[in-house]
Amino acid sequence: GASRALPEGGERPLGRTVAGTEVVAWRAADGTLVAGPGACPHLGAPLRESPVRCGTLICRWHGLPLDGAPSAGWRPYPAYDDGVLLWVRLDEAGGETPLERPVVPARPDPRTAVDAVYTAVGRCEPEDVVANRLDPWHGAWLHPYSFVDLRVLDAPDPSAEAPEDGFTVEVSFKVAGRAVVPVQAVFTAPEPRTVVMHITGGEGTGSVVETHATPLSPDPAGRPRTAVVEAVVAASDRPGFAAARLAAPLLRPL
Ligand code: FES
Repeated sequence: GASRALPEGGERPLGRTVAGTEVVAWRAADGTLVAGPGACPHLGAPLRESPVRCGTLICRWHGLPLDGAPSAGWRPYPAYDDGVLLWVRLDEAGGETPLERPVVPARPDPRTAVDAVYTAVGRCEPEDVVANRLDPWHGAWLHPYSFVDLRVLDAPDPSAEAPEDGFTVEVSFKVAGRAVVPVQAVFTAPEPRTVVMHITGGEGTGSVVETHATPLSPDPAGRPRTAVVEAVVAASDRPGFAAARLAAPLLRPL
């Protein structure tokens, strides 16, 4: 989820079920992100419904306090706040070798950028989301009201000894009527469930759109569900952008 979904001093934790594992997250008294199993180790109360007081989560059933340190059989998960997104590492899910920190793509300077995070849930596997995002024709074929004039400028050569991990496209975003904004963008996949689009030319050069595919629990019919977390970190050297930054809180999805 978004970093701003857990404000410092907030009294409500965040609860998610990721790859079938219930997770609760909150901020410790110093603002550090804390995350761990979502069930109370005493009698299993849902910790996502418990209040946070001065950085300590207090189980609402019988008052067990959790300050983020291991306690009464509850152990925290490795967690990381990159300033835009919150990350929790679940070593049982995914099957990759755990990293000390998530791979955070290069982003524009946060002091001059605007960021927004949007989450949608799809009935599919994370691999489907990644495959869609890495298919340059997907946007032009399935969202023709948004994209036109797509050209793939280069793509990894699978026969190369060390193929590049990325491809470059030129595409125009439809704004209104016949007005379009042409951009050049490079797509990469720095992690198995992450696709990043860096705008490298045209309007908004330096901006980044990250797509993170997070497996959830299956729906009641047993079909897979995946959260598609899209983080946009936008930059622009247009004079009006600084004013637009000030209005950003009004523009973010609720
Ligand atoms: S279930 Fe949490 S303190 Fe009893």
